[in-house]
Amino acid sequence: MRGVILQGSSKSNGNTNKITLFIKERTGFDIIDLKSKNIGPFDYDFKNRDDDFLPTIKEIVENYDTLIFATPVYWYAMSGIMKNFMDRITDCIKVEKTTGRKLAGKKMGMISCGSGSELKEGFTMPFIESAHYLGMEYLGDIHTWIEDENIPKQLQSDINVFISEKIKREGKPKH
Ligand SMILES: Cc1cc2nc3c(=O)[nH]c(=O)nc-3n(C[C@H](O)[C@H](O)[C@H](O)COP(=O)(O)O)c2cc1C
Repeated sequence: MRGVILQGSSKSNGNTNKITLFIKERTGFDIIDLKSKNIGPFDYDFKNRDDDFLPTIKEIVENYDTLIFATPVYWYAMSGIMKNFMDRITDCIKVEKTTGRKLAGKKMGMISCGSGSELKEGFTMPFIESAHYLGMEYLGDIHTWIEDENIPKQLQSDINVFISEKIKREGKPKH
């Protein structure tokens, strides 16, 4: 099975996308742009059950064993698009249980993209704890940013190390 980058930015071709494309090039992972999907917030009466969430999560669990959550930093936290997606995983625990169970045993990584090198403490916690809760293996995370429209050189090399040591432990990154 393959890997997929779940891109949670409010701009399909923004800064987070620059990072996801860089990672796709080095891993061969697919990208799912969550902004292009119609995924509503969690609803206790599951009123959004006919939107794009279920087909999207089914596509993910059937085709991929490594899920990389790529989110911009908006107000010190993951984006709303990413949070909606995470909240909707609850649909898989309460209703679509067969799909939910298939998340167990898969791997999760996380990439944040902010305005600079600083990431406030606690940002990664929801990903780490959600992975544990879902029985997924947490591979690790890396914080990224864009300077003058580009990924800074040192960060490029840090991302390459992250890929080879955490994400694609069996393979070497292309340079
Ligand atoms: C609504 C909003 C909130 C933001 N809040 C933060 C923040 O708390 N910390 C930070 O470092 N950058 C913040 N930024 C800057 C973005 O994280 C940064 O520009 C990022 O690279 C944007 O990625 P994108 O183009 O994929 O949206 C914010 C940007 C927006 C639009």
